[in-house]
Amino acid sequence: MSELNKIALKIISNGKGILAADESNGTMTNRLEAVNVVSTPENRLKFREILFSSESMKECIGGVILYDETINQSTSYGNSIPDLISSHGAVPGIKVDTGAKDLANSSKEKITEGLDGLRERLKKYYKLGARFTKWRGVYVVSKKYPSELAIHSNAHALARYSALVQEIGMVPIVEPEVLMDGDHSAEVCLKKTSEVIKKCFDELILHKIDLSGIILKPNMILAGNLSKTKISSEEVSQKTLECLKGSVPSEVPGIAFLSGGQSEIEATENLNLISKNNKTKFIMTYSYGRALQQSALKVWSKNTKDKVATQNTFNHRAKMCSLAATGKWSSDFENK
Ligand code: G3H
Repeated sequence: MSELNKIALKIISNGKGILAADESNGTMTNRLEAVNVVSTPENRLKFREILFSSESMKECIGGVILYDETINQSTSYGNSIPDLISSHGAVPGIKVDTGAKDLANSSKEKITEGLDGLRERLKKYYKLGARFTKWRGVYVVSKKYPSELAIHSNAHALARYSALVQEIGMVPIVEPEVLMDGDHSAEVCLKKTSEVIKKCFDELILHKIDLSGIILKPNMILAGNLSKTKISSEEVSQKTLECLKGSVPSEVPGIAFLSGGQSEIEATENLNLISKNNKTKFIMTYSYGRALQQSALKVWSKNTKDKVATQNTFNHRAKMCSLAATGKWSSDFENK
């Protein structure tokens, strides 16, 4: 078993998943202002420190994705944030892309940037304690999108990023996110997502990536958020499994889904059925941002001194997601 494979398995095995707390300052400011909290470095840290010191970190969270600001911050007790995360047995990770920018010659689409100087930044993050990384490519869906250009160029960037990350001994999360914005059907989402993921693996293989040392972070197969024909959770799970079976090489140890704008319950129920119906040998788990933090953020915003209530809310959500990752969740557990 390679070292990279060991790190990947440590993050996603035994019902553990990933807490995606890597919102950029811009995104975090939107989230905080939506609940009437002023977005300062201190407030961003306060909320995140409460999550990272929660009880559920031990059993439910195998890795935390941080943003550059957070990985450089210290807790109120003086230890570093990566140390706080490691003290619970979880692996600190870091988002290393620098965001999605307009794609030249296809301006309605995006290309993710951040390759320049990446090797040097990775060395710095490794020293700070990070052992895995994230890079997110985004794809819009319509009749003509994603274009071949967007599919190809984002896959190329994901592969070049992965090669640099593995070179230094960290596990790359490969995140091609086909956005749910639009009125497209789940069938269209299935077709486009399969195309996108297949192209990513073509490029990863061309760049000689150790596939046993990555984690794939895809979207689930859903109808667009403006579509009139929604599909059931059972259908989401069947279509998502069909997509992954047909496009992910068997060496990949696991798949950690993004929540991508689904509600907390939707993201939990869908993951539960995916895991329950999973006949592949891929581990299926979560790498949720909003679907792990939304309720906790609401509770915290009402009284930012109430650490206990915030942690109770986060612990509950993390426990539900962890049960879902092993196919053992039931809606009855939500109100207990
Ligand atoms: O890149 C996206 C985040 O890591 C996951 O966030 O679960 O809110 O979509 P989300």
